[in-house]
Amino acid sequence: MIIRPEIIEDIKSRNDIETVISSYVRLKRAGSNLNGLCPFHSEKTPSFTVFPATQSFYCFGCGAGGDVITFVMRTENVDYVTAVRILAERSGITIPDENVSSYSKGVSRQRILDMNREAAKFFHAALLDEKTGAEARRYLLDERKLSMAVVNHFGLGYAPNSFGAVHDHLKKAGFTDEEMITGFLCGKSNNGTVYDYFRNRVIFPIIDVSGNVVAFGGRVMDNSLPKYLNTSDTPAFKKSKNLFALNFAKDKCADMLILCEGYMDVIALHAAGFEFAVATLGTAITQEQARIFSRYTKKVVISYDSDEAGQRAADKAFKYLQEVGLDVKILKMNGAKDPDEYIKKFGSEKFAGLLDDSKSRFQFEIEKILSKYDIANTDEKVKASYEICKILSTFTSEVERDVYAHKVSEILKIPKQSILKDVERIMRKKNSDAKKNFRNEIYRNTSGFADRVNPESVSNMKACRTEEAILGLMQLKAELLKKAVSELTADDFVTSFNKKVFEKISEAYKEYGKFDIAFISDSFSVDETSRVTKMLVTRERLDNNGEEIMSELIKSLKEEKSNENTGSIDDILDIISRKKQED
Ligand code: UTP
Ligand code: MN
Repeated sequence: MIIRPEIIEDIKSRNDIETVISSYVRLKRAGSNLNGLCPFHSEKTPSFTVFPATQSFYCFGCGAGGDVITFVMRTENVDYVTAVRILAERSGITIPDENVSSYSKGVSRQRILDMNREAAKFFHAALLDEKTGAEARRYLLDERKLSMAVVNHFGLGYAPNSFGAVHDHLKKAGFTDEEMITGFLCGKSNNGTVYDYFRNRVIFPIIDVSGNVVAFGGRVMDNSLPKYLNTSDTPAFKKSKNLFALNFAKDKCADMLILCEGYMDVIALHAAGFEFAVATLGTAITQEQARIFSRYTKKVVISYDSDEAGQRAADKAFKYLQEVGLDVKILKMNGAKDPDEYIKKFGSEKFAGLLDDSKSRFQFEIEKILSKYDIANTDEKVKASYEICKILSTFTSEVERDVYAHKVSEILKIPKQSILKDVERIMRKKNSDAKKNFRNEIYRNTSGFADRVNPESVSNMKACRTEEAILGLMQLKAELLKKAVSELTADDFVTSFNKKVFEKISEAYKEYGKFDIAFISDSFSVDETSRVTKMLVTRERLDNNGEEIMSELIKSLKEEKSNENTGSIDDILDIISRKKQED
């Protein structure tokens, strides 16, 4: 662990979870716990619960959970150490440096945020300055056709054509060279000169959901390269965890989010009234970002550039977004390279029309296949039909297969029954080919709710439940923790995620004689920590949490381990359909 356990305990005891969360979420008492609307996904009925007894929170809607530290990690989008620091500052504790063995930079997150805010004001003022900003205003207002209102709304700015304007301004405002370099507002040349990083570019501030200016993007105003410069990761910013304009979109996206490629696309969409559009920050979408989407909305329409690169990127984004359980559509544009150009050319009503008939994965893939083959030719028609059946065979729902088979039969003029027969044949073949792989694959491909935290839970559902019950009880009661540590070893665990959880809990127990989720959460991602907390709160809601049940569970796990991996495909399909009904 990076920070000593006494310090962690002290910080946690001074930051009561109920008090801290109350400053973000309106909580209502429900029995011994508290409920509220989840800050991590959009919902109308509260499924977010705070458990004062165990100082934890868990959302029964989206599965986010943890302790006060992981709550801050999630809401502020920061790493573990930074979250601890934020809580320390909040309660007036200073963490002595020898207690932190590693920290990215000596510059604090808060200093960078303060500096960024100052820089954003400077860039904006430069844009508005009669003389300095003239060319940039011409570019944004005349060439890109933005209104002054939109420019102000997004806080757009201009970085003057100078090597020292930003540096001088920030220095006067009290910031050091080290801070400017760490925050990527300045660079340092080989001979030691500190110079402005953004020069003669229009500036797009990146603002996080709490309203902090976390980074900047800067675009040239001609065709020179690179087109954009972006802030790299700093103690206040992780590119892979932020989305451009989510600060505006977060309140408008209960129904859907639009994902585009560029800053300009997002701005054009917002200006046209689609205030639920966001973009990644100059990189392909990451799995972390996909999870952010799933916290805020149920449906995502991918609206990437219409060129080949854009469409390839859309396929990848589709996959990631689908994996976190979102309903994903891909919007297809004709006659324009990107949403920005489309809206300028055809107007926002036409774009709204595109949103309405954006294609589901199946339609989209069918179209791709149909464009490859000439179905007037029998041979090619058979090939097309085979490819389509392969896709259909990945749908677990019989109803869904039936509906789509009907559509396909009309297009290809082949009887529906023959199509369904082919689909079944493909499914059977896959089944016998690779039973085990198939089990996992069909789950991933079709369910849309693949268990990314513990992928092995799928093929070991029963063992996994037992494991989770044990791990939950270990967190709940000291005497059960002691019992489990003395009677079980890591090798008794079937799934490797739960095995790791057991190992970490045992290590913490052996070292400190007790357990707190904060002792281990820097070894896990926030989603993994959520799962560990889910195990705890699941037990907390039950009554039978005694020695006896622990003995039963231990016995049962040892039995499970001896007949590992014997689940049949039917069990799996059964579990999937049951899980789908639960959702
Ligand atoms: P685009 O080249 O499509 O740019 O890159 P754009 O935002 O649509 O800009 P316009 O319409 O040509 O003015 C899409 C996104 O990729 C990132 C930026 O985030 C950009 O918004 N990008 C692109 C970079 O980070 N660096 C680059 O050099 C180019
Ligand atoms: Mn573009």
